[in-house]
Amino acid sequence: MNKTIIAPSILSADFAHIGEEIKRMEKAGADWIHCDVMDGIFVPNITFGPKMIKDIRKLTDLVLDVHLMITEPIRYVEQFVTAGADYVTIHVEATDKVDETLDKIKKLGCKCGAVISPQTPVDALKSFISKCDLALVMSVHPGFGGQKFIESSLSKVKELRDMIDRINPNCILEIDGGITEENIGDVKRAGVEAIVAGSAIFGSADPAATIKRMRS
Ligand code: DX5
Ligand code: ZN
Repeated sequence: MNKTIIAPSILSADFAHIGEEIKRMEKAGADWIHCDVMDGIFVPNITFGPKMIKDIRKLTDLVLDVHLMITEPIRYVEQFVTAGADYVTIHVEATDKVDETLDKIKKLGCKCGAVISPQTPVDALKSFISKCDLALVMSVHPGFGGQKFIESSLSKVKELRDMIDRINPNCILEIDGGITEENIGDVKRAGVEAIVAGSAIFGSADPAATIKRMRS
C-alpha cells in the first residue's frame, strides 16, 4: 500500500493566525491541507469562502484539499479552482447535479472528488466513481470538528475500497472525522489512503510527533 497522506483540517486552526498555522503544519510534515467550506445551509455552521483558499495558496505549495459542504456547489466550484484548490470535493447529498458539477471541476483543470455523509450508502457513489480523483467517507456528521468517530464508517470504507479497486483504482480513498492515533490503524487496514484530522493534529502539543505516529 502507498504512503499514508495526512491532511490536517484547518477547521481546528486559529483563523486569526492562519499563516502561522499553515507553516506549523508544513513543518510538522503534513502532505495536504484540508479546507472545510461550510455555508450554514447544507451544514449548521459557517466557515470561509474562496478568498481564504486564495490567501493560503500564496503561503504554501502543499496540496489544497477543498471539501465543499455547501448546497448547489456548481455555483461556486469555479471560484475555488481559480483560488488555487488542487482537489474540489462535493457532497452527493448537496445537489442533483453531481455529474455535471464533477465534469465542471475537471474541465477547469482541477481534480474532483465526491463525498458521502454518514447516512448515505456507498452505493450513492457508484455512478460517479469512474470520474472521481478522490472519494471521501465522512465518519462524523459534517459541520464540526472534534466529534466522535462513527464506527460503522469502517464497513463503508471497505465497501468503497472494493468499488474503487474494481472501477477506478486511481481514485484516492479519503476519510474525514474523528480520526485519532487510536483508530487510524483500523481505517488504514480498511483501505483508506488519505486521512483528514483536525483536532487530533491542531490540538496536539507536538503535531510533528503526532503526524509521525499517525503515519506509522
Ligand atoms: C467536519 C469536517 C472535518 C473536521 C474534522 O465537517 O469536514 O474536516 O474538521 O475534524 P476532526 O478531525 O476534529 O473530527
Ligand atoms: Zn472536511
